[in-house]
Amino acid sequence: MKAVLIPGDGIGPEISQSVKDITLAMNLDIEWVTYQAGAEYASQTKEVFEPGLVDAIKKYKWALKGPTATPIGTGFRSVNVALRQQFSTYANVRPIRSFNGIKSKYENIDLVMIRENTEDLYKGIEYMVNENIANGVKLITREASEKICRYAFEYAKINGRKKVTAIHKANIMKFTDGLFLEAYRDVAKDYPEIETQEVIIDNMCMQLVLRPETFDVLVAPNLYGDIVSDLCAGLVGGLGFAPSGNIGDEYRIYEAVHGSAPDIAGKNIANPSALLLAFALMLEALGKTKEANQLREALSQVVEEGQVLTPDIGGKATTTEFTQAIINHL
Ligand code: NAI
Repeated sequence: MKAVLIPGDGIGPEISQSVKDITLAMNLDIEWVTYQAGAEYASQTKEVFEPGLVDAIKKYKWALKGPTATPIGTGFRSVNVALRQQFSTYANVRPIRSFNGIKSKYENIDLVMIRENTEDLYKGIEYMVNENIANGVKLITREASEKICRYAFEYAKINGRKKVTAIHKANIMKFTDGLFLEAYRDVAKDYPEIETQEVIIDNMCMQLVLRPETFDVLVAPNLYGDIVSDLCAGLVGGLGFAPSGNIGDEYRIYEAVHGSAPDIAGKNIANPSALLLAFALMLEALGKTKEANQLREALSQVVEEGQVLTPDIGGKATTTEFTQAIINHL
């Protein structure tokens, strides 16, 4: 099969190379079709995507994306937000699991954060009322809220999970978050076997730090989901091992949660683990569960052995050496 690879900005090309090397080493039936996108491409061409990228995703349906930089406060639109909206990948799914060999404050964490991906404050409807007042619109629809809540309950059902917790602030945002919560309650009626729970976002942050083991699947509108999912990554040792999938009815775009790491770009010292774990999620969704587990297992062994590690996790190895160590364990 063919799938689209978007190396992206900063360390993106280096960690994408790791994916390509592993695809070859595992003899996987995947041919990567590469397209450029992001700030570096935009600075050379004034376009955010290489022509043909959108058509390629439409054609091949599956994509793996490296990080793309988004300058803060300029007119440049986020590639991630544009892709999510263009391909209606309405669910952002982030499994958060403790990883053997990675130090963190908690053990045996196994959560799944499901974030609405297309609306809320990320719709980008904001304007200046006058030079001293800016206004942004928090757009929440019943349709998108029901869709993401149904995705969360279906995910729980298929994966044998017991509880779906809705994150909201409906006490203050009575219309917008109120509508989200109404959708959650309506959908929950179809899944009587799954426990429900509604937690206000601020309390949720505290509960996750105090008692993460009491949660299972979490579902949230876009902004809360964005913030809480990074908090969850912190529970298992940071962004270095956090993958995510942007899932729609037709298209799937997998990516690492971290950004383009401009401070270490071009030095061949980036940790490719998060993108490799995103690739493992993609393999799993393609039905290649055995290969996905093989890749996770090899990565886990390299990290646990602690001999060949990139600097962010306490070693001195290059991205290439770390990748080769994984290949040796496959
Ligand atoms: P960042 O995640 O790029 O970097 C934060 C820190 O983590 C840096 O010290 C960096 O060196 C380190 N780091 C990140 N990934 C690493 C890896 N794989 N291996 C080793 N160290 C790693 O976050 P930051 O600095 O806030 O954002 C930089 C750019 O990335 C921004 O333009 C931002 O918009 C973009 N970004 C893109 C994302 C995406 O495309 N999905 C997600 C988050 C940020």
